[in-house]
Amino acid sequence: MREQIEHAETANRELRAQRVDRWYPKFHIAAPAGWINDPNGLSHFRGRFQVFFQHNPFAPVHDSMHWGHVSSADLVTWRREPIALAPSVLEDRDGVFSGSAVVSDDDRLIAYFTGHRWRNGVDEAEGNLQVQCMAVSDDGVTFEKQGVIVDCPEDLLHFRDPKVWRTDGTWYMVFGACSAEHRGEVWLYTSQDMWEWEFARVLFRDPNPEAFMLECPDMFPLETAHGVKWVILYCPMGPSPSGYQARNQHNAGYVVGDWTPGGEFVQLTDYRPVDWGAQFYAPQTFEAPDGRRIVFGWMGQFGSPLPSVEDGWNGQLTVPRELTLDDDLRLIQRPVEELEQLRIHSTDLGEVSLSAEEDRLLLDDVDGAEVELELDLTRTDAERVSLAVNRTVDGHETLVSFDDLSGRVAVDRRAAGAGPRGYRAAPVPAGTERLRLRVLIDRASVEVFVNDGVAAVSSFAFPAEGPKSIRLTAESGRAEVTSLRVHRLGSIWEQDRD
Ligand code: FRU
Repeated sequence: MREQIEHAETANRELRAQRVDRWYPKFHIAAPAGWINDPNGLSHFRGRFQVFFQHNPFAPVHDSMHWGHVSSADLVTWRREPIALAPSVLEDRDGVFSGSAVVSDDDRLIAYFTGHRWRNGVDEAEGNLQVQCMAVSDDGVTFEKQGVIVDCPEDLLHFRDPKVWRTDGTWYMVFGACSAEHRGEVWLYTSQDMWEWEFARVLFRDPNPEAFMLECPDMFPLETAHGVKWVILYCPMGPSPSGYQARNQHNAGYVVGDWTPGGEFVQLTDYRPVDWGAQFYAPQTFEAPDGRRIVFGWMGQFGSPLPSVEDGWNGQLTVPRELTLDDDLRLIQRPVEELEQLRIHSTDLGEVSLSAEEDRLLLDDVDGAEVELELDLTRTDAERVSLAVNRTVDGHETLVSFDDLSGRVAVDRRAAGAGPRGYRAAPVPAGTERLRLRVLIDRASVEVFVNDGVAAVSSFAFPAEGPKSIRLTAESGRAEVTSLRVHRLGSIWEQDRD
């Protein structure tokens, strides 16, 4: 594989030399150049957080999947690492697809991934031939492939994305599968030694008959007031849009249930979206050394290209978010607290009253920012209260709004400078009196967290050229903001040239 990696690195350096940075993320992980999709192999090894990702080093399109790699000592500052895995054998001829990584008892990093081949050698028309493979690393940087550990069951069109964890001394692996009846399922395998894997059961079938495949399943326990519950995160392919849900070509959701090793998964909740934004997919979690459950998602899209393709890159990961469950078994996501270290200049604007149709400048010359805002809904009668972010003098902007008519928090890209428009919106919990918003604004994206993480909205939003500002506006009524803090954010990269 050495040779394939060197070839990919050389090609990527050439692409990197031509990258244009007007929209390149300042504080989100992205490929140096080329394409990124799913986070893979999230782990903590040799004192560093390891983030691998689906990566095409040759062009900003989904093709020729490798595993790119970055690492960090603190989840804030990241170092570029060499490409970790490249297609090099028959089984992964058409791509080293998604997977996970865990640390073995003899202190090696073990990666599990899908070796992907088109059955007909060219495209998905006759389905995929997907096998689960293993690779081992002593240093977390270079890997030795170990071959296939789980073969593709007869005639399965989709069978991929192994996620491995250990409970009570047994190793477990879940995959996404498309059953013979074209239903999306999660299959469970077990192992005692990390090498020999046995089929245990079909752990979960999506009750939605439209879902024909569940990509990137993940399964993990979280403490709740009702004891330990298990979350299955997954990405159903097939469901049609319904109201505010499933609006993207690909969507990620979760169910919560009870599970004990050896037993069935007993589903306790309905399917719920993980994030309501236009670009959020393929979330993967891992357990940090201090026990926190941390997730990264992919912000990108298959199909129509993002405008950054002309700049030589496509897609980014979300910021790392800590996951918990509330008493209603809703997934709560908050940016990990380490991210506060990215704040290089903070301003506390205190209480702010906005009269109807007022438009107030909060920050100008923005190049990466965060806004924390609390709105007193009992004293606000505006129809819409918005942060207009990445606003340029020509009037292009993205609105992050509380919309009193729909009772939602929306990211509206109608006036974005380039790329996809349209809006996405998350519900504000009924009875909310104080609405808290935390908004992370990168050069071409926003991530919004509602009421300390009960809902999130993540979207790319490409601004126009020129200096950018953040404004606060109220429409058709007053807005009473009880606290408002704005922060300029620094870069996550260890070296500027990254
Ligand atoms: C999800 C996915 C995975 C697959 C990978 C290929 O985004 O389609 O199912 O392993 O991307 O890049």
